[in-house]
Amino acid sequence: MQAATMSIISDKLRTRFALATNVLVLTGAGVSAESGVPTFRGGGNTAVWKGMPFSVISSAGMVERDLPEVWEWFNYRRGVLASLKPNPAHEAIARWQDSFDDFTLVTQNIDGLHQSAGSRDVIELHGSIWRTRCLDCDARHNVRELKFDNGAPACFDCGGHLRPDVVLFGEMLPTGAFERAAVVAGICELCFVVGTSAVVYPAASLPEIARAAGAYVVEVNPELTPLSDLCDEVLTGKAGEILPMFQTLGHKKAQKAQDNFE
Ligand code: OAD
Repeated sequence: MQAATMSIISDKLRTRFALATNVLVLTGAGVSAESGVPTFRGGGNTAVWKGMPFSVISSAGMVERDLPEVWEWFNYRRGVLASLKPNPAHEAIARWQDSFDDFTLVTQNIDGLHQSAGSRDVIELHGSIWRTRCLDCDARHNVRELKFDNGAPACFDCGGHLRPDVVLFGEMLPTGAFERAAVVAGICELCFVVGTSAVVYPAASLPEIARAAGAYVVEVNPELTPLSDLCDEVLTGKAGEILPMFQTLGHKKAQKAQDNFE
């Protein structure tokens, strides 16, 4: 592990990682690929449900036209995700939150695997498959343990129609989520972009904001993306293999804790 760490992680990045106090991580579907979650692009299985492409079945229009069908599709996805576990990439990122004075995790994923790995205060740009939102009273409920087998479930508060609390094609991001992430992007020193094809905006603009504000931007992905040229470093490979390598590196906060101890 040590030899691989030396070759993949440059001296410059080792230093940046060691000294950074404010770190931002943006993740996409690729961070969950090694847990068994299909990606949307970049070699993953493009989801098709009953002949409908993902962009149709997971669309705002479909919620209006056929909410029970949307629920059938999301129940299927919830069933697939329920048994999946976080992988070493999620676990490494969860450890980082206690390694830096300021750490922010922003994800485009709706699978909840970062939280399962122990990450706190995750900014979920595209919502969560484990939450519902009421179309009538807007109440949100965590429903991880519940199974909805009979079409669209009713709101626990007002009896209205519940929908999955995820961002569908043709919809806006949840209020404030991107704005909070953009503020951090503008002040972070180190920005990791992990497992995203970086083609869906506004999420993909976060590393651009970080770079423009002077952050050191590092991409972790087996493939190049439209963002690669903008990055200071591209670590080519699987997140679950690359991110745990940082575990062996020291960082300022750990050193400070050690100094206080001595
Ligand atoms: P994509 O499927 O577009 O991209 C996944 C990326 O992960 C690709 O660049 C792959 O090369 C990379 N990848 C695959 N395996 C990996 C691994 N083991 N380690 C690291 N990287 C790996 O997924 P996203 O970029 O997340 O939005 O897609 C963005 C959004 O597009 C999604 O959130 C979704 C979709 O439309 C909504 O549903 C609103």
